[in-house]
Amino acid sequence: MCGIVGVLGEHEVAPILVEALKRLEYRGYDSAGIATVSNGHLDRRRAVGKLVNLSDLLVHQPLAGKAGIGHTRWATHGAPTEANAHPHKSGPVAVVHNGIIENYRELRAELAAAGIGHETDTDTETVALLTHHYMTQGMDAASAARATIARLEGAYALCFLFDGEPDLLVAARKGSPLAIGHGAGEMFVGSDAIALAPMTDSITYLEEGDIAVVTRQSLTITDAQGRLANRSVKTIEIDSARVDKAGHKHFMAKEIAEQPSVIGAALSHYLSADGRNIVLPDTMPDFATISRLTMVACGTAYYACLTAKYWFERLAGLPVEVDIASEFRYREPPITPGTLALFVSQSGETADTLAALRYCTDRVDTILSVVNVAESSIARESDLALPILAGAEIGVASTKAFTCQLTVLLLLALRAAHARGQIDDDRLADILSSLRALPSTLNTAMERNTQIRIVARQLSTSENALFLGRGLMYPLALEGALKLKEISYIHAEAYASGELKHGPIALIDDTMPVIVMAPCDALFDKTVSNMQEVMARGGRILLISDARGIATAGDGVWQTVSMPDIDPILSPILYALPAQLLAYHTAVAKGTDVDQPRNLAKSVTVE
Ligand code: F6R
Repeated sequence: MCGIVGVLGEHEVAPILVEALKRLEYRGYDSAGIATVSNGHLDRRRAVGKLVNLSDLLVHQPLAGKAGIGHTRWATHGAPTEANAHPHKSGPVAVVHNGIIENYRELRAELAAAGIGHETDTDTETVALLTHHYMTQGMDAASAARATIARLEGAYALCFLFDGEPDLLVAARKGSPLAIGHGAGEMFVGSDAIALAPMTDSITYLEEGDIAVVTRQSLTITDAQGRLANRSVKTIEIDSARVDKAGHKHFMAKEIAEQPSVIGAALSHYLSADGRNIVLPDTMPDFATISRLTMVACGTAYYACLTAKYWFERLAGLPVEVDIASEFRYREPPITPGTLALFVSQSGETADTLAALRYCTDRVDTILSVVNVAESSIARESDLALPILAGAEIGVASTKAFTCQLTVLLLLALRAAHARGQIDDDRLADILSSLRALPSTLNTAMERNTQIRIVARQLSTSENALFLGRGLMYPLALEGALKLKEISYIHAEAYASGELKHGPIALIDDTMPVIVMAPCDALFDKTVSNMQEVMARGGRILLISDARGIATAGDGVWQTVSMPDIDPILSPILYALPAQLLAYHTAVAKGTDVDQPRNLAKSVTVE
C-alpha cells in the first residue's frame, strides 16, 4: 500500500523519481507526487489518478533539483484528491509515507492547541506539521524528524526532504518495509529493491524501528533504542528486479505464461539432482513430532493454504487449521503444544499475516513461512522462510505466486507424509515424477489459451458467475471466483459443489454461467449430478475437465475446456491455469485495467 522513493542524485531527479514510482505503482495508484529541492527551494507536484497524470503535469510544470522524494498512493485517510496526495508539506518539510499513523488525531489536537492547523484529511500531514513545529523550536532538520518519529504510533515507512538541505534525506521504518540503495556519490530510498533496481543493486534493508540519516556520502542508521546500528549491504539479483512485460500486453499475461518455468525453478530448488528426494533446510521441523499445523494467510495465499489442508490431511494424516489472518489475529486462538505455525504470503509484508505471525511467536516452537520476497518482514521474522522463487510479481492479481506456493506446500505435505510414515515409496515416487513433469504439462495446458479467450468473450457479457469445485478443486473454485471478480468486476461466487442445493441453487437461471472445475477423479460422478441439477434449471455450464471427464459429462454442457491428464493430487496447480486465463481474457474483453484493477493494491501493509 503506497510506494515511496527518495533520491540524492548527481543528475536531475524528477525523471528518476517518476521511473522509480512506475516500478512501485503496483502498491497503489490513487494519486502520485514528487517534491524536490532546487537552489535551496522545496517545491512539489501532485496529481490524482495514475502516475501518467503526474508525468503529464511535469511536462508543463517541470521540477528541477538533484534531491527529491516521491510517492504513489493507495488512499487510507482521505479521498484520492490532489490535496491529500503526497508529498505532504509544512514550511521547510516535505514527507512521504506508507502506512497509518494511528495517533494522528491526538497529535493534530496538540498542534491545534499550539495554533497550527491542518489542510488535508490525511494522517501523514501531521508528520510534516509536527516536524516543522519542532524546527521552529530550534531543532535542526534531522533532530526534528527524529523527535517526530518518536511521537508516532502505528505503521510507517517515511522519507523526509527539507528546504535548504539538498544533501539530506531522513528515512524511518516501523511496520512497513524500506530499502536504502547505495550508488556512486548517490543514495536512494525505496519501498523495495525493485524500485531502485535501475539505479543500484547494492541495498541495505532497514530493520523495525530504524531511522536512517542519508547524505550522498554517508548513511547513519540508529535502531529502535537510538543506538548506532550496523546494517549490511546486500547485492540483489538483477533477475529478481526485472519488471518488463517481455512482449506481453500485461504483466498478468506474462506472469501466467511464466508458470512452467518458475515452477520448474522451484522444483529444482527443492528436489535433489535426480529429482527423487525432497531437499529442505536442516532446520526444518520434524513433521513426525508435530500434532497440528496452523496455516494463516490472506486472499489468494489463503486459498493456497486451503488447498494444502487437503494435501496435509490426506497424504500425511496431519490435522490442519487454516485461518484468514485478519480473523486469526483478533480471535486469540489457543495454540496447543506440538503446533507448527505456517504463514504464506507473496509479498511477505501483508499487515494482517505479519500480526498473526507475531501472535504466534512466543506460542509455538517454530514459525515457518512460505514467501516470495526473501527480504520481507514475514521472511525475516520467521524461524525458517521457504522461498517460492516465483520472481517479481507485478500484476496486482496473484497468479504465478499462487501456483509456486502450491508447489512448495505440496512438497511440504509430501515431506510430512514421508516423515509420518503415511506414504509408501512407490506413491511418493509417482507424485514426484508427476511434479517433475508439471512444467511440461502446464505448457500443454497453455495451448488452450485461444479457446479460453473465445469462451471468456462470451463470459464477459455476464453480470454474475458461479464457480463450483469438490475436494481439492473447491479452494481452486474460490480462487477462480476471486480472480474473475478482482480484475473483470463480474460478481463471482464459489461453492463446494455439494453445497449447491443448500441455497445457491436459487441463483441458477439461464443468465448464470457456472464454471465447474473437475478432473475425472473419484468424486467426478458426484459433480456430474450437481451439473445435471444446474442444467435442469437452465444454468449454463462451462466444464473444465480432462478428456474422460468431458466424455462422461455427456450432452447439455454449454462449453468445455479439455485439460491434459494429471495425477489428481496435482490437479489444483494445473487447473489454476485455465482459471487465471479465463479471468484474464474476460477482463481484457471488458476493457478493465488488468494489471491495476480499481481499489486494489499489491502489497497490503495496512489492516
Ligand atoms: C489476489 C491477491 C490477494 C493477495 C493477498 C495476500 O489476486 O493477490 O488476495 O493474495 O492480498 O497477499 P500476500 O500473498 O502478499 O500476503
